[in-house]
Amino acid sequence: MLIAANWKMNLDKYSIMSYIKQLETCNFSNDIKLCIFPPVIYINFLYELIKNTPILIGGQNCHYQPFGAFTGEVSAISLKEFDCKYVILGHSERRTYNKETNQNIKKCAESGIKAKLKPIICVGENINIRENGTAKNFIKKQIVESLPEKFDELTIAYEPIWSIGTGKIPEKAEINEMHKYIKEIVSSKTNKNINVIYGGSVNETNIKDILSAGNVDGVLVGGSSLKIKEFLAIYSSAVMYLKYIKVKD
Ligand code: PGA
Repeated sequence: MLIAANWKMNLDKYSIMSYIKQLETCNFSNDIKLCIFPPVIYINFLYELIKNTPILIGGQNCHYQPFGAFTGEVSAISLKEFDCKYVILGHSERRTYNKETNQNIKKCAESGIKAKLKPIICVGENINIRENGTAKNFIKKQIVESLPEKFDELTIAYEPIWSIGTGKIPEKAEINEMHKYIKEIVSSKTNKNINVIYGGSVNETNIKDILSAGNVDGVLVGGSSLKIKEFLAIYSSAVMYLKYIKVKD
């Protein structure tokens, strides 16, 4: 299971230091990969703080070229050099504000893979698409057009745009249905299994429902990952959930 903390453009040196001090005290589970995605400027600072812990670091984005005249961008190779393991690509905020397209996201994913990063490709429908009943077709197009040609390990984050930062989440059955659908699309195209994680208003109250929806391999947490107490509560609920399903099996 992957628990990803997407800090977006938040926190500063002092708050990161006190956050990690508290996070270090938690009982880490071998069954959970915990990855923080800080603003790019703090990657090295965070790396120094977490290097003796099981906490992983990822980039919030990477460019499709390894280097070049791309002012303000970050290369996958630079992320790898500072020990990033994952890279988030195609987050809906970047699709909206930076006009990222599926074709562009595919090239970024391929550049990430070349640099030995594990891509997390975000997909998700807006409220109009959900309400007119075409969400599945929309998600399929996003996936088919952004899927890298070759990959060993790939994660897709299903993040309905109407759920991000709003406190609203889909029904459990809807999460299961969409995650299953996403897995089917990818395996029919590539014969490979992937991980599908859920993102959008994940918090300490709904985490158990989300994880138990079926076909959920983890979560991408935004707002609730900024407050350490809330994030620790999410983490320990996930640990408890994994213990529960082990006993049940
Ligand atoms: P949220 O954000 O948890 O604040 O809804 C999730 C995301 O955008 O990745």
